[in-house]
Amino acid sequence: MTTAASPLRSDFVWGASTAAFQIEGAAHLDGRRDSIWDAFCRVPGAVTGDHDGEVACDSYHRWAEDVALLRALGLGAYRFSVSWARVRPDGGPVNRAGLDYYSRLVDHLLEAGVAPWVTLYHWDMPQAVEDQGGWAERTTAARFADFALTVHDALGDRVAVWTTLNEPWCSAYLGYGNGQHAPGRRDFRAAMAAVHHLLLAHGTVAAELRARDPGARVAISLNLDVTDPADPDDPDDVDAARRVDGQWNRIFLDPLFRGRYPDDVLADTAHLGLLEHVRDRDLDFIATPIDVLGVNYYHGQAVSRRAPATPLHGLAPVARPVGSPLPAADGIHRVPRGLPQTPMGWEVQPEGLTRLLRRLQEEYTGPAGVALAVTETGAAYDDVVGPDGRVDDPERRAFLDAHVRAVADAVAAGADVRAFFVWSLLDNFEWTWGYTRRFGIVHVDFATQRRTVKASGEWYAQVAARNGLPWEERSSR
Ligand code: FCB
Repeated sequence: MTTAASPLRSDFVWGASTAAFQIEGAAHLDGRRDSIWDAFCRVPGAVTGDHDGEVACDSYHRWAEDVALLRALGLGAYRFSVSWARVRPDGGPVNRAGLDYYSRLVDHLLEAGVAPWVTLYHWDMPQAVEDQGGWAERTTAARFADFALTVHDALGDRVAVWTTLNEPWCSAYLGYGNGQHAPGRRDFRAAMAAVHHLLLAHGTVAAELRARDPGARVAISLNLDVTDPADPDDPDDVDAARRVDGQWNRIFLDPLFRGRYPDDVLADTAHLGLLEHVRDRDLDFIATPIDVLGVNYYHGQAVSRRAPATPLHGLAPVARPVGSPLPAADGIHRVPRGLPQTPMGWEVQPEGLTRLLRRLQEEYTGPAGVALAVTETGAAYDDVVGPDGRVDDPERRAFLDAHVRAVADAVAAGADVRAFFVWSLLDNFEWTWGYTRRFGIVHVDFATQRRTVKASGEWYAQVAARNGLPWEERSSR
């Protein structure tokens, strides 16, 4: 049997992702104060089981064990986030103890041969900043930049890639639009203000990092969608897909890569006042060149103006009701396509990732000379620890295998993808689902904090070791 050459670059990066609020715990220790997620967890009916982030995976104390896991898995990079509420509690003065935590973590990662990919905002704004308007308020962009530069002052000499924001779509639409996520506001005008202020925060930080550190590699991670019309011959469905693509993808991609908001999105959302927040030069900042576009991909969707008999849910079983996340997509439904679904209610659609990466390469990143990285993909399954102490998770392994192949297909078609990060290193606090959804390649027993590498983790270590899959298996499929 001949082994086909890997379609991936020899320096392709295999990593795993986490986020501060989801793993650290120590929510009120060593100077950390409430973030919007601490406060949101106290809202009755907002989070499954009233779970919170007080302990999570206790990584604030167990970080050395987590670094050892990354080393044992042979991963080349760790994408983690820095908690604003720990480093600048209440958005105020620097908390040295908070910064020291990340500094130690970075040192140990480097010692272990794992490159630190830092995300500056993975959703945990200090509650005090939200009390002054949060992302609906323009000044928050500058306050975020103060925090970001504090982190750069401390870690700037040691970080491989700086990701400004993780999934501003979620921060704006779920945080301020349908209120599904912290801070739980339900005001789509505020959500549109948040879209612009998040992008402005990104652009401000990107420009500052470029100015002070020419060697810095700057990124943003977007949760991008592959939106198909349920019936491609139905003009209403085609228009529904255009609308969703606009409000999901292009509202972020066009300002970042083209320095403008798309006309059709501005028309669809005209009643929500996005342009009222845009000032001279904002879009120049927002379009500051980046080095890497991070793509977070879990599934695509088919959309229609006609309601399906069996709707897709994908919502946590919480008492607090929530509506559609998109600002101007009323009357548009997600239509199941008979694909397998994970316990999140998410369809498994690896070919969507290939299409997404190819589209980005052709329309956005390619012309701009920006590299692509899959900064999150993965799946929740109901894992159990077997009597022998092992966690066998063949479905996750199959999911990841299919998504690695999807990336390889995109690369073979010309997409410049340089990295693949599994969501997640650890089972952790899955937002409104609390601890009831497990995405880790490492199982966490939340009663004892015991970590057990799942079978998918052992498999992923082999993928990292051989820079991909045994590609010959592919040709014989
Ligand atoms: C993404 C988030 C990440 C995790 C995964 C499942 O939207 O960035 O924190 O919750 O979904």
